[in-house]
Amino acid sequence: MRTFKLFLIFSICIHMAFSQSDTNYDESKVPLFEVPDPLTSFSGEKINNAQDWARERKPELLQFFEKKVYGKVPGKLDDFSVKVLEHSDQAINGKAKRKQVELTFERNSKKLSFTILIYTPKKVAKAPVFLGHNFYGNHTISTDENVIISKAWARNNETFGIEENKLSEKSRGVRSSRWAIEKIIDGGFGLATIYYGEVDPDKNDFSDGVHRLLYDEQQQEPNTGEWGSIAGWAWGLSRAMDYFSQDSEIDESQVIVFGHSRLGKASLWAGVTDTRFAAVISNDSGCGGAALSKRRYGETINVINNSFPHWFCRNFRSYNENEEALPVDQHQLLALIAPRPLYVASAQEDRWADPHGEFLSAHYATPVYTLFGKEGIPSNKMPETNKPIQNTVAYHVRTGKHDVTDYDWEQYISWAKKFVVGPKN
Ligand code: GCU
Repeated sequence: MRTFKLFLIFSICIHMAFSQSDTNYDESKVPLFEVPDPLTSFSGEKINNAQDWARERKPELLQFFEKKVYGKVPGKLDDFSVKVLEHSDQAINGKAKRKQVELTFERNSKKLSFTILIYTPKKVAKAPVFLGHNFYGNHTISTDENVIISKAWARNNETFGIEENKLSEKSRGVRSSRWAIEKIIDGGFGLATIYYGEVDPDKNDFSDGVHRLLYDEQQQEPNTGEWGSIAGWAWGLSRAMDYFSQDSEIDESQVIVFGHSRLGKASLWAGVTDTRFAAVISNDSGCGGAALSKRRYGETINVINNSFPHWFCRNFRSYNENEEALPVDQHQLLALIAPRPLYVASAQEDRWADPHGEFLSAHYATPVYTLFGKEGIPSNKMPETNKPIQNTVAYHVRTGKHDVTDYDWEQYISWAKKFVVGPKN
């Protein structure tokens, strides 16, 4: 166990803690805390090898995150029908194929459908694929006019022309800058994406989205300890993975799950709960994602649970303003991905997501990778901005804001070529 030699100034009034003006952005005010050791079990037993990790430690940590943080999926919901809504061999300047595939789930006379937009490079017969949710609909990720506009609820956004919670032509391509499709295709990868609002609309309302398909009669919302929206979005990513196993153009053994911000929290949870994902990328996922909660830097557990009461399971609220009671921290979530490749990325100006806390988390997950003979992030000294460290665990902090940029994608592509597709390390 290691201790941070940093000071805490208890000056924050608990009742004011939701307001961002109370946010700590001062490294010297990060509380003193012990980093829970991924290699010591809850009963105090030291874990020395990969077998004991897999048999004893991994299951207890996984169970903790499931019960106390993201929530349990209360049943199985993995039968679906597939409908190819559209496909073409002439996408992305003739370099790629495009497919739009709708998956439909039915349970207790309730239905849920979501559409996966898939681009695969023509030059690769069975492509490795980046899979991630998008925030405002598949048609926002490029100017490709053939992409179908979702009819699902969307958050209004004046800049994107989204009114009355409906998506339209006005928002086509508005998020192109976040999805370097051409670079991905040129790199020999496919890209698959889903509008997360089709899996579960991002609002504190459990009468819609995937959760209701697993309710008992009369049930209105998940029980305490059952899944919130993040686990719902992760569920959607796993169902896309189910579909990939029946698509001959995709190499299901090389699917890299990716997500930005809240969707980075979802990609981490998907990567942890579903070992079929070959690798995991967290882009600026912050609190409840890659960042260490016990640092209380930027967004805190109390703030996130109050601003987004539907994201985590209700049990997580017992750690509001009570991080010291947590027997785990987010580096142990990252460690649950071992030995699979993991990339944690931050942005310098994204203090809300605590870049230093995201870095340290990747560093403190490293002993578990070492057990498997893989290289993580050995030093606890943050690298310089725009100087990535790329091992089986990779990390970079780039210049700029909370966003996904070409720079981020360039790193993900070169790293994935080496650690996912290329000769296995
Ligand atoms: C808010 C939230 C973050 C989240 C982000 C996003 O800022 O507080 O936790 O990551 O939204 O998803 O963009």
